[in-house]
Amino acid sequence: MPTFGSQNLMFDFDRIIERRGTHSSKWDSIARLSGIESPDAIAMWVADMDFAAPPGVTSALTAEIQCAVHGYYADTGSWAAALADWMARRHGLRIDPRWVSPTPGIVSGLGLILQAVSTPGDEVVVFPPAYHAFRGIIVANERRILDAQLVETDGRYAMDLDALRAKLTPRTKVVFLCSPHNPGGTVWSPSELRALAALCVEHDLILVSDEIHCDLLLEPGAVHEPVGVVAPGESSRTLTFMAPSKTYNVPGLGASFAIIPDAALRARYVKATAGIVAEVNVFGYVACEAAYRDSEPWRQALLDYLRGNRDYLEKFVRDELPGVRIEAPIEATYLAWLNVADLGLAQPARHYESAGVGLSDGVPFCAAPGTHVRINFGCPRSTLAEGLARMKRAAPAR
Ligand SMILES: Cc1ncc(COP(=O)(O)O)c(C=O)c1O
Repeated sequence: MPTFGSQNLMFDFDRIIERRGTHSSKWDSIARLSGIESPDAIAMWVADMDFAAPPGVTSALTAEIQCAVHGYYADTGSWAAALADWMARRHGLRIDPRWVSPTPGIVSGLGLILQAVSTPGDEVVVFPPAYHAFRGIIVANERRILDAQLVETDGRYAMDLDALRAKLTPRTKVVFLCSPHNPGGTVWSPSELRALAALCVEHDLILVSDEIHCDLLLEPGAVHEPVGVVAPGESSRTLTFMAPSKTYNVPGLGASFAIIPDAALRARYVKATAGIVAEVNVFGYVACEAAYRDSEPWRQALLDYLRGNRDYLEKFVRDELPGVRIEAPIEATYLAWLNVADLGLAQPARHYESAGVGLSDGVPFCAAPGTHVRINFGCPRSTLAEGLARMKRAAPAR
């Protein structure tokens, strides 16, 4: 099994790949989005990694390019079979490939399911701090956000389902869950998920579980429970979104899918897509199949490397960044949610951008202004070290 860092003989996660000038949203949009012209800024915001994709994925894409004819993709079922095999092997979830509905991006899928099962003015539950696109999609579709703030319990984030129950109204129709959680990195336990699924049954809600980060668990023994496993009896009201994009670093290919066991719910979702949503493109299908079929040694090496980055980050924050706090253990993802409220900065992300580090501000994730930033540590360790050193140098006088 490969090891990480400079001892990793098979995969070189230490390699710096210059992404500026490559149409990288992460690296080439900082100035446009932040308004701060900082050509040397290190991009540590949007959730893609600075690592090359697994060799199996690159080979499959190369073969497609070398074919040089990029016609319409014939879906023979091979990519869905690779996914079904992966879900069974890795997550103990047996899916019928017919349950899988390809979707060119989970963000558009979230909008589609809202259109399929709710009407304007209906309420959609989110658990802040919440992935910012959840909020944008709800508002864009003229639904209303029902916030169910996560609470810190025993050093972990937890859902306060009693508080949520008290807020529900007859217009509450859908719950958006991020499992594991972005930005907090929490892996929900089976009992937490079962309790949420039970609440959805009790109140006739559709549970939409976005599991895009589920193959990025950092603790060796950690287990991700798909809602389809913990609440199989509730399949008529659950929908799971999955994608290879975060884990295998292919988010620009727009390959994701909805897993919808219930035929009636699936029909409603598919109807919402008809004539509106384009197919996943040929490169997305090819990469997806190679990722799930051939890339496990790479994924294991990646997790080792990310674990090392997570540990480095946690130590640095503890020892070198007074006033900055990680609120909950980072159990999954390559994202860390930093509480910077004690620094007294009005706009912390702008402050750090001026110092050459591009972070995500907490406000779109529903944090109070000046309180949080999110950092992406999916990068070579030397990049992470430099970004953190810049944050240290930018520390405001206290
Ligand atoms: C929880 C979550 N869902 C969805 C997405 C985006 O998915 P897609 O690119 O498939 O629209 C992200 C990207 O950061 C994410 O973190």
